[in-house]
Amino acid sequence: MSSRRPLVAGNWKMNLTAAQGVQLVQKVDEFCRDLTAGTRENVDVVVAPPFTAIHSASTVIDIDRMQLGLGAQNMHWEDEGAFTGEISPTMLRAARVGYVILGHSERREHFFETDEMINKKVKAAFERGITPILCCGESLETREAEDTLTFIEGQIRAGLVGISAATATGLVVAYEPIWAIGTGRTATPKMAEEVCEHIRTVLEDMFGPTIKSNTRILYGGSVKAENAELFFSEENIDGALVGGAALTADTFNPIIAAAAKV
Ligand code: PGA
Repeated sequence: MSSRRPLVAGNWKMNLTAAQGVQLVQKVDEFCRDLTAGTRENVDVVVAPPFTAIHSASTVIDIDRMQLGLGAQNMHWEDEGAFTGEISPTMLRAARVGYVILGHSERREHFFETDEMINKKVKAAFERGITPILCCGESLETREAEDTLTFIEGQIRAGLVGISAATATGLVVAYEPIWAIGTGRTATPKMAEEVCEHIRTVLEDMFGPTIKSNTRILYGGSVKAENAELFFSEENIDGALVGGAALTADTFNPIIAAAAKV
Protein backbone atom coordinates (compact mmCIF):
# COMPACT_ATOMS: atom_id res chain seq x y z
CA MET A 1 0.00 0.00 0.00
CA SER A 2 1.18 3.51 -0.72
CA SER A 3 0.73 6.80 1.09
CA ARG A 4 -2.94 6.85 0.08
CA ARG A 5 -5.19 6.45 3.10
CA PRO A 6 -6.84 3.03 2.95
CA LEU A 7 -10.59 2.72 2.69
CA VAL A 8 -12.65 -0.26 3.78
CA ALA A 9 -16.25 -0.11 2.59
CA GLY A 10 -18.96 -2.56 3.57
CA ASN A 11 -21.57 -3.19 0.88
CA TRP A 12 -24.49 -4.73 2.74
CA LYS A 13 -26.39 -5.37 -0.49
CA MET A 14 -30.03 -6.43 0.17
CA ASN A 15 -29.36 -7.48 3.76
CA LEU A 16 -30.16 -6.26 7.28
CA THR A 17 -33.14 -4.33 8.61
CA ALA A 18 -32.76 -0.82 9.99
CA ALA A 19 -32.52 -2.18 13.56
CA GLN A 20 -29.93 -4.80 12.61
CA GLY A 21 -28.01 -2.13 10.74
CA VAL A 22 -27.81 0.15 13.76
CA GLN A 23 -26.46 -2.70 15.88
CA LEU A 24 -23.81 -3.49 13.31
CA VAL A 25 -22.78 0.16 12.94
CA GLN A 26 -22.42 0.42 16.72
CA LYS A 27 -20.20 -2.65 16.89
CA VAL A 28 -18.02 -1.43 14.03
CA ASP A 29 -17.70 1.99 15.63
CA GLU A 30 -16.80 0.49 18.99
CA PHE A 31 -14.05 -1.51 17.34
CA CYS A 32 -12.74 1.51 15.46
CA ARG A 33 -12.62 3.55 18.67
CA ASP A 34 -10.64 0.78 20.30
CA LEU A 35 -8.02 0.71 17.57
CA THR A 36 -4.88 2.14 19.06
CA ALA A 37 -4.29 5.82 18.44
CA GLY A 38 -2.22 6.30 15.36
CA THR A 39 -3.82 3.24 13.80
CA ARG A 40 -7.38 4.52 13.81
CA GLU A 41 -6.29 7.56 11.84
CA ASN A 42 -4.83 5.28 9.18
CA VAL A 43 -8.06 4.04 7.72
CA ASP A 44 -11.41 5.30 6.44
CA VAL A 45 -14.37 3.04 7.11
CA VAL A 46 -17.63 3.27 5.19
CA VAL A 47 -20.86 1.33 5.59
CA ALA A 48 -23.34 1.12 2.72
CA PRO A 49 -26.72 -0.09 4.04
CA PRO A 50 -29.82 -0.64 1.92
CA PHE A 51 -31.98 2.49 1.54
CA THR A 52 -34.38 1.47 4.32
CA ALA A 53 -31.53 1.40 6.84
CA ILE A 54 -29.73 4.55 5.73
CA HIS A 55 -31.65 7.03 7.83
CA SER A 56 -31.26 5.15 11.11
CA ALA A 57 -27.58 4.47 10.39
CA SER A 58 -27.10 8.14 9.59
CA THR A 59 -28.79 9.22 12.81
CA VAL A 60 -26.71 6.97 15.04
CA ILE A 61 -23.49 7.99 13.25
CA ASP A 62 -24.39 11.64 13.77
CA ILE A 63 -25.60 11.47 17.36
CA ASP A 64 -22.75 9.31 18.57
CA ARG A 65 -20.22 11.31 16.53
CA MET A 66 -18.90 8.20 14.87
CA GLN A 67 -15.97 8.45 12.51
CA LEU A 68 -17.72 6.24 9.98
CA GLY A 69 -18.57 7.21 6.42
CA LEU A 70 -22.05 6.45 5.13
CA GLY A 71 -22.62 5.13 1.64
CA ALA A 72 -25.54 4.20 -0.61
CA GLN A 73 -25.51 1.26 -3.00
CA ASN A 74 -27.10 3.04 -5.93
CA MET A 75 -28.92 6.24 -6.89
CA HIS A 76 -30.66 7.89 -9.83
CA TRP A 77 -28.95 10.76 -11.62
CA GLU A 78 -31.94 13.15 -11.49
CA ASP A 79 -32.69 15.21 -8.39
CA GLU A 80 -36.44 14.57 -8.41
CA GLY A 81 -39.28 13.54 -10.64
CA ALA A 82 -41.47 10.71 -11.86
CA PHE A 83 -39.04 7.82 -11.37
CA THR A 84 -40.97 5.32 -9.28
CA GLY A 85 -38.77 3.35 -6.94
CA GLU A 86 -35.69 5.52 -7.37
CA ILE A 87 -33.66 7.57 -4.89
CA SER A 88 -31.96 10.84 -5.85
CA PRO A 89 -28.59 12.42 -5.02
CA THR A 90 -30.29 15.25 -3.09
CA MET A 91 -32.19 12.74 -0.98
CA LEU A 92 -28.93 10.99 -0.17
CA ARG A 93 -27.22 14.27 0.69
CA ALA A 94 -30.08 15.16 3.01
CA ALA A 95 -29.52 11.83 4.77
CA ARG A 96 -25.81 12.77 5.16
CA VAL A 97 -24.64 10.13 2.71
CA GLY A 98 -21.06 10.79 1.61
CA TYR A 99 -20.39 7.89 -0.76
CA VAL A 100 -22.31 6.01 -3.40
CA ILE A 101 -21.41 2.67 -4.97
CA LEU A 102 -22.02 2.97 -8.71
CA GLY A 103 -21.83 0.43 -11.50
CA HIS A 104 -21.68 -2.62 -9.27
CA SER A 105 -21.73 -5.75 -11.42
CA GLU A 106 -24.99 -6.85 -9.79
CA ARG A 107 -26.61 -3.59 -10.94
CA ARG A 108 -25.16 -4.01 -14.40
CA GLU A 109 -26.23 -7.64 -14.67
CA HIS A 110 -29.61 -7.85 -12.91
CA PHE A 111 -30.85 -4.29 -13.47
CA PHE A 112 -29.36 -3.70 -16.89
CA GLU A 113 -27.35 -0.63 -16.00
CA THR A 114 -25.26 0.52 -18.92
CA ASP A 115 -22.00 2.44 -18.93
CA GLU A 116 -23.97 5.45 -20.11
CA MET A 117 -26.32 5.33 -17.12
CA ILE A 118 -23.42 4.79 -14.77
CA ASN A 119 -21.64 7.79 -16.26
CA LYS A 120 -24.71 9.97 -15.61
CA LYS A 121 -24.79 8.75 -12.03
CA VAL A 122 -21.08 9.42 -11.52
CA LYS A 123 -21.53 12.98 -12.81
CA ALA A 124 -24.59 13.53 -10.60
CA ALA A 125 -22.70 12.23 -7.56
CA PHE A 126 -19.81 14.63 -8.15
CA GLU A 127 -22.21 17.52 -8.74
CA ARG A 128 -23.93 16.85 -5.42
CA GLY A 129 -20.74 16.34 -3.44
CA ILE A 130 -21.11 12.59 -2.99
CA THR A 131 -17.99 10.48 -3.55
CA PRO A 132 -18.63 7.88 -6.24
CA ILE A 133 -17.15 4.43 -5.77
CA LEU A 134 -17.06 3.41 -9.41
CA CYS A 135 -17.05 -0.37 -9.79
CA CYS A 136 -15.57 -2.32 -12.64
CA GLY A 137 -14.92 -6.01 -13.13
CA GLU A 138 -14.68 -8.69 -15.76
CA SER A 139 -16.53 -11.97 -16.17
CA LEU A 140 -14.74 -15.29 -16.10
CA GLU A 141 -15.24 -15.52 -19.85
CA THR A 142 -13.45 -12.21 -20.39
CA ARG A 143 -10.61 -13.26 -18.11
CA GLU A 144 -10.18 -16.58 -19.86
CA ALA A 145 -10.14 -14.81 -23.21
CA GLU A 146 -7.31 -12.64 -21.79
CA ASP A 147 -9.31 -9.50 -22.46
CA THR A 148 -9.43 -8.32 -18.85
CA LEU A 149 -7.28 -5.19 -19.10
CA THR A 150 -8.98 -3.94 -22.27
CA PHE A 151 -12.41 -4.60 -20.82
CA ILE A 152 -11.69 -2.84 -17.52
CA GLU A 153 -10.16 0.10 -19.36
CA GLY A 154 -13.36 0.39 -21.39
CA GLN A 155 -15.52 0.44 -18.26
CA ILE A 156 -13.36 3.09 -16.58
CA ARG A 157 -13.24 5.35 -19.63
CA ALA A 158 -16.99 5.01 -20.27
CA GLY A 159 -17.89 5.60 -16.64
CA LEU A 160 -15.84 8.79 -16.54
CA VAL A 161 -16.74 10.39 -19.87
CA GLY A 162 -17.00 14.18 -19.58
CA ILE A 163 -15.47 14.38 -16.10
CA SER A 164 -12.69 16.95 -15.67
CA ALA A 165 -9.43 16.31 -13.85
CA ALA A 166 -10.49 18.82 -11.17
CA THR A 167 -13.70 16.88 -10.55
CA ALA A 168 -12.06 13.46 -10.65
CA THR A 169 -10.03 14.38 -7.56
CA GLY A 170 -12.54 12.74 -5.27
CA LEU A 171 -12.98 9.54 -7.24
CA VAL A 172 -12.77 6.08 -5.68
CA VAL A 173 -12.57 3.01 -7.95
CA ALA A 174 -13.39 -0.56 -6.97
CA TYR A 175 -12.05 -3.45 -9.00
CA GLU A 176 -14.28 -6.46 -8.47
CA PRO A 177 -13.85 -9.44 -10.79
CA ILE A 178 -17.38 -10.83 -11.21
CA TRP A 179 -16.23 -14.41 -10.81
CA ALA A 180 -14.85 -13.59 -7.36
CA ILE A 181 -17.96 -11.90 -5.93
CA GLY A 182 -19.76 -13.96 -3.31
CA THR A 183 -18.16 -17.13 -4.64
CA GLY A 184 -15.45 -17.58 -2.06
CA ARG A 185 -13.07 -17.54 -5.00
CA THR A 186 -10.70 -14.58 -4.85
CA ALA A 187 -8.39 -13.21 -7.44
CA THR A 188 -4.82 -13.69 -6.34
CA PRO A 189 -3.31 -10.48 -4.98
CA LYS A 190 -1.05 -10.41 -8.04
CA MET A 191 -4.00 -10.66 -10.44
CA ALA A 192 -5.80 -7.86 -8.61
CA GLU A 193 -2.64 -5.76 -8.47
CA GLU A 194 -2.10 -6.08 -12.22
CA VAL A 195 -5.58 -4.73 -12.95
CA CYS A 196 -5.41 -1.98 -10.32
CA GLU A 197 -2.07 -0.85 -11.73
CA HIS A 198 -3.59 -0.74 -15.18
CA ILE A 199 -6.54 1.31 -13.88
CA ARG A 200 -3.99 3.81 -12.56
CA THR A 201 -2.34 4.15 -15.96
CA VAL A 202 -5.77 4.73 -17.54
CA LEU A 203 -6.50 7.42 -14.93
CA GLU A 204 -3.15 9.03 -15.72
CA ASP A 205 -3.94 9.06 -19.41
CA MET A 206 -7.34 10.62 -18.75
CA PHE A 207 -6.55 13.02 -15.93
CA GLY A 208 -2.80 13.27 -15.40
CA PRO A 209 -0.28 12.14 -12.79
CA THR A 210 -1.91 13.63 -9.69
CA ILE A 211 -5.16 11.73 -10.13
CA LYS A 212 -3.14 8.66 -10.97
CA SER A 213 -1.27 8.75 -7.72
CA ASN A 214 -4.03 10.05 -5.44
CA THR A 215 -7.04 7.97 -6.47
CA ARG A 216 -7.94 5.18 -4.11
CA ILE A 217 -8.50 1.85 -5.83
CA LEU A 218 -10.19 -0.88 -3.83
CA TYR A 219 -10.27 -4.59 -4.46
CA GLY A 220 -13.53 -6.48 -3.96
CA GLY A 221 -14.56 -10.11 -4.29
CA SER A 222 -14.66 -12.50 -1.34
CA VAL A 223 -12.39 -10.33 0.81
CA LYS A 224 -12.20 -11.65 4.37
CA ALA A 225 -10.01 -11.44 7.43
CA GLU A 226 -7.79 -14.26 6.20
CA ASN A 227 -6.88 -12.70 2.86
CA ALA A 228 -7.31 -8.94 3.37
CA GLU A 229 -3.74 -8.23 4.36
CA LEU A 230 -2.37 -9.90 1.25
CA PHE A 231 -4.38 -7.53 -0.94
CA PHE A 232 -3.60 -4.49 1.16
CA SER A 233 0.12 -5.05 0.89
CA GLU A 234 -0.02 -4.60 -2.88
CA GLU A 235 1.25 -1.22 -4.06
CA ASN A 236 -1.82 -0.25 -6.07
CA ILE A 237 -4.58 -1.61 -3.82
CA ASP A 238 -5.85 0.89 -1.25
CA GLY A 239 -8.50 -1.04 0.58
CA ALA A 240 -11.52 -3.20 -0.05
CA LEU A 241 -15.16 -3.22 -1.02
CA VAL A 242 -16.53 -5.99 1.14
CA GLY A 243 -19.84 -7.80 0.67
CA GLY A 244 -20.57 -10.97 2.66
CA ALA A 245 -17.93 -10.33 5.31
CA ALA A 246 -19.33 -6.83 5.95
CA LEU A 247 -22.56 -8.21 7.43
CA THR A 248 -21.23 -8.99 10.88
CA ALA A 249 -18.80 -7.10 13.08
CA ASP A 250 -16.88 -10.31 13.73
CA THR A 251 -16.01 -10.67 10.07
CA PHE A 252 -15.79 -6.98 9.09
CA ASN A 253 -13.72 -5.59 11.95
CA PRO A 254 -10.62 -7.73 11.31
CA ILE A 255 -10.56 -6.41 7.73
CA ILE A 256 -10.52 -2.86 9.10
CA ALA A 257 -7.69 -3.85 11.44
CA ALA A 258 -5.73 -5.31 8.53
CA ALA A 259 -6.10 -2.07 6.55
CA ALA A 260 -5.14 0.07 9.55
CA LYS A 261 -1.99 -1.93 10.06
CA VAL A 262 -0.52 -1.71 6.59
P1 PGA B 1 -18.30 -10.29 -1.60
O1 PGA B 1 -18.96 -9.04 -2.37
O2 PGA B 1 -17.31 -9.72 -0.63
O3 PGA B 1 -19.45 -10.98 -0.92
O4 PGA B 1 -17.64 -11.14 -2.63
C1 PGA B 1 -18.20 -7.94 -2.77
C2 PGA B 1 -19.06 -6.95 -3.51
O5 PGA B 1 -19.87 -7.37 -4.36
O6 PGA B 1 -18.96 -5.72 -3.30
